[in-house]
Amino acid sequence: MHYLEPLFNPKNIAIIGASHHEGKIGHTVVKNIVDSGYKGRIYPVNPKGGEILGNKVYKNISEIEEDVDLSIIVVPARITVDVIDEVAKKSKFIIVITSGFSEVGNIEGEKKLIENAKKYGARVLGPNVFGIYSAKPPVNATFGPSKIKRGNVAVISQSGALGIAMIGKASEENMGLSAIVSIGNKADLTEAEILSYLFNDNLTKVVFLYIEGLENGREFLEIVRNKPSNKSIIVLKAGRSKAGAKAVASHTGSLAGSDIVFDSALRQVGILRADTLEDGLNWVASVALSPPPKGKNVVIVTNGGGLGVIAADACEKYGLKLFDDMKILKKTFEDVMPEFGSYKNPVDITGQAGGKEYRMALEKAFNEPNIHSILALYCDRGDAQMEEIKKALIEVSKKYSNKPALYTIFGGEGASSIIQALKREGIPAFSDVEDAVSSLYALYKVNERKEEGKLEKIEMKEDKISEIIERARKEGRRKLLSNEAKEILKQAGIDVPEFFVARNIEEAIKLANKIGYPVAMKVLSEDIIHKTDVGGVILNIENDKEVADAYEAIIESCKRNVPKAVIKGVEITKMLEKGLETIIGATNDASFGKVVMFGLGGIYVEVMKDVSFRVAPVPKKEIRRMLREIESYPLLTGIRGEKSKDLDSLVDTIYRIGILVTKFDEIIELDINPLILYEKGAKVADARMVIEVKK
Ligand code: COA
Repeated sequence: MHYLEPLFNPKNIAIIGASHHEGKIGHTVVKNIVDSGYKGRIYPVNPKGGEILGNKVYKNISEIEEDVDLSIIVVPARITVDVIDEVAKKSKFIIVITSGFSEVGNIEGEKKLIENAKKYGARVLGPNVFGIYSAKPPVNATFGPSKIKRGNVAVISQSGALGIAMIGKASEENMGLSAIVSIGNKADLTEAEILSYLFNDNLTKVVFLYIEGLENGREFLEIVRNKPSNKSIIVLKAGRSKAGAKAVASHTGSLAGSDIVFDSALRQVGILRADTLEDGLNWVASVALSPPPKGKNVVIVTNGGGLGVIAADACEKYGLKLFDDMKILKKTFEDVMPEFGSYKNPVDITGQAGGKEYRMALEKAFNEPNIHSILALYCDRGDAQMEEIKKALIEVSKKYSNKPALYTIFGGEGASSIIQALKREGIPAFSDVEDAVSSLYALYKVNERKEEGKLEKIEMKEDKISEIIERARKEGRRKLLSNEAKEILKQAGIDVPEFFVARNIEEAIKLANKIGYPVAMKVLSEDIIHKTDVGGVILNIENDKEVADAYEAIIESCKRNVPKAVIKGVEITKMLEKGLETIIGATNDASFGKVVMFGLGGIYVEVMKDVSFRVAPVPKKEIRRMLREIESYPLLTGIRGEKSKDLDSLVDTIYRIGILVTKFDEIIELDINPLILYEKGAKVADARMVIEVKK
């Protein structure tokens, strides 16, 4: 039994603040519980005593003769904090409907609430929630609408108002619910734990999650990774804004906490994210009501050519494959096709087709095994055929459950009445063909993919890496010098070209000769982040004289531009040959912890933000997917006859970064910028690293 069972299927419920007055929240909750046909024991609690809706009112929760599975608090915030101890002593779970906690700055009150509940081992949902509906008992312990249709969709909502509106919308769409949970301030129970229950709940087929932010992203991802294959999840997250953490030294760090990271993390574990509430609801309803498609072949059946073309365009946009085997299409539809119809998908049986022909065409599509899903479109002809069509659509879709079929009825009043009739029968129906196509896309995508691959063991010289980090920590330095960062990367098995540090001109010349010309020289100072901007980098140095000049020029320019900078010397490296500049980074994301980033250098990352993220560590197969996600991917595989870059080396470097930052939690920001990628090999040209310094 899942540990949240008493929350979703309580044997008894106490309502603290149950009110005698109709219309008050404390009354509505009791009324909804009673009206939902809850069979367990109901204990209203109110110091006034008496009776509410036929249930004896207890003056204090301590008077209840048994322990309580679920207590619901509906007294004001001030009183909630006063009563939490006595409620927690008696209860396994407590839902705090009351507002007035962290959402209005009352962080102390919320902290006290949770601490006191935890003292007695009670778990809290909320505060600031509208309650819970669970189809299992059934029980509607919310102050929302009283009538909720039972079904297979579970809703978890961080927003109360949206959650309540969802109940209404679900009923309008005739979508049955298995549970609806408001998570509010998430002071104790979070969406991750609720999800783990719903993935184990046999009534739930699809979970719709509305969230605004995610604190424990790793736990959430782990639960989704273990999701049974017959359950689906669709997420709607508010805020696609790009704003992330500011004032950090690295490119990667500046994107932490941003929506791009959230998006990539969802993609990593195969969660479908809706952009709009409308899409989310359409998708959830379609997934809840349809069998999963068994193959890629989509067929469009229409009585209107124009609508068919619009649907075909939308299919292309969503990457759906229109079945194009003309032989099979002809064989399938020849009995219903008028002379001037078209077998070519979209299959147009023309405006001449009445209810009988349309029914036949649909049945043929359902019976042809090479067709895996159907988009059935019908244009309202404004005649008596509409009744016949309504009947045909309902009967045919009830008869076949072997493949998904989504219906679009376009037109006036007649069309609306068909849509309503189909919805009443639990058949996915739309007035807009784009909605139908996007819902079919969701059916294909919702369980299509999971994270791929396993983590491989790799060698890295951990002692040497620790040594460098410890030395910097002892000196209280957060930013590592670039030679230290490079040394760490080298010890992690990443290809870093030879580098030395010169502290005077003579040394610089000696080292340049040791490396061999041409060389690059860069200032070494933790106080200078943008070395090029202050004249701290000189490239393509060809001889001893140029080394001496460059040394002087770098020191002079850096001292002039950043007078307070402590300059530790000048780093000398082999001048790398031209290749494709990429950036690999890692950072500590607020939701997901260590994440790695990949993008192409220059404008691709800085202007276009063409980057992809993964939560570290990342299996190599998944890294290949991560690479394919960026728009500039073709530059990696070679355009206009160029050869592909060495993707194996690139993948290996990203893999090692993922392992490095996971093993060394102290590394909180890392940029390899650029990593130069060749047809053979990938080399680090420059690197930055920030570590956490112990307090
Ligand atoms: N134990 C039990 N009941 C108590 C009590 C105690 N220690 N002290 C008072 N009560 C009773 C009151 O007498 C009252 O009952 P009555 O109507 O029969 O007199 C009942 O509890 C409620 O108290 P009241 O002071 O009338 O509060 P309220 O109903 O005006 O407001 C909340 C209480 C919880 C509804 C309100 O504080 C609140 O938070 N509202 C917002 C809820 C919300 O929007 N949540 C988020 C949704 S997403």
